[in-house]
Amino acid sequence: MKHFTSIEDVDDPQQLIQQVVDLKQNPTSSSVGRQKTVGLIFFNPSLRTRLSTQKAAQNLGMDVIVLNISKDSWKVEFEDGTVMDGISQEHIKDTVKVISSYCDILAVRSFATLRDREKDYGEQVLNNFIEHSSVPVISMESATLHPLQSLTDMATIADIGIKKPKVVLSWTPHPKPLPQAVANSFLQWLPAIEADITITHPQGYELAESFADGFMQTYDQEEAFKDANVIYAKNWSSYTDYGATPNVNGTWTITPEKMALTNQAEFMHCLPIRRNVVASDEVIDHSIVYQQAKNREYAAQAVLQNLLENL
Ligand code: CP
Repeated sequence: MKHFTSIEDVDDPQQLIQQVVDLKQNPTSSSVGRQKTVGLIFFNPSLRTRLSTQKAAQNLGMDVIVLNISKDSWKVEFEDGTVMDGISQEHIKDTVKVISSYCDILAVRSFATLRDREKDYGEQVLNNFIEHSSVPVISMESATLHPLQSLTDMATIADIGIKKPKVVLSWTPHPKPLPQAVANSFLQWLPAIEADITITHPQGYELAESFADGFMQTYDQEEAFKDANVIYAKNWSSYTDYGATPNVNGTWTITPEKMALTNQAEFMHCLPIRRNVVASDEVIDHSIVYQQAKNREYAAQAVLQNLLENL
């Protein structure tokens, strides 16, 4: 594995998922990261990704540099050929070349702007990191994908231990427009485990065909929940009317009554979660979301370990 920015970077996704599951038993068994440094670069906020990746690096003996670039550094210019006489002080090319010279692995978080679909789906920021970094790059959530979350999610579903589970990706309400990255990425990784997959969302919230095609899709949330073993809740804004939040008929908040339609399904969410908007307190409090969050540490560790072993 040269970088970790999507499932396409992974030679054997099933083996990597199993490695995450196995790491839970003995997370400090390798010190392959001694005298190596990982740089964690954040253009956007984070709790789980930041702390779990930091902990994973420490488990491997690595040093960690963390930079909140939009708060603590120079304002970055992303366009090539720009005359930089405005507010941007440093070009992304220079930023990445310099940061990567201090690190053995570089990890970056840069969300979708939701203003320009072509630019977001062109992964301008992530691709600049890949192009200009002298060391391997990990995506800690890009404009269109969140592979560390998805790897975690696959390992968490594997933990449940049901052979060929019915997994439902359900759109849920949210007060603000959110990117499609978690949902896209979840769908990209699901074929790596044997699962029966259904997507449910209101009209107007269709995901890009490149991610959703080939899966069962329905506008009827309650129908989708029947016989489900896993309910994976996530909000996303419109892909077709990019970044918009079309009006929704009915209530999509996940309640105990809706969970009762399932086959005693486990409720999953990547967190942070808006309680009593995305799902009710009762659903969240009886869910596996904390186990899922804990697995972020092992997913990050498996990825770091693989990259370190290939340096
Ligand atoms: N799930 C997730 O990526 O959490 P953070 O945004 O807190 O890192």
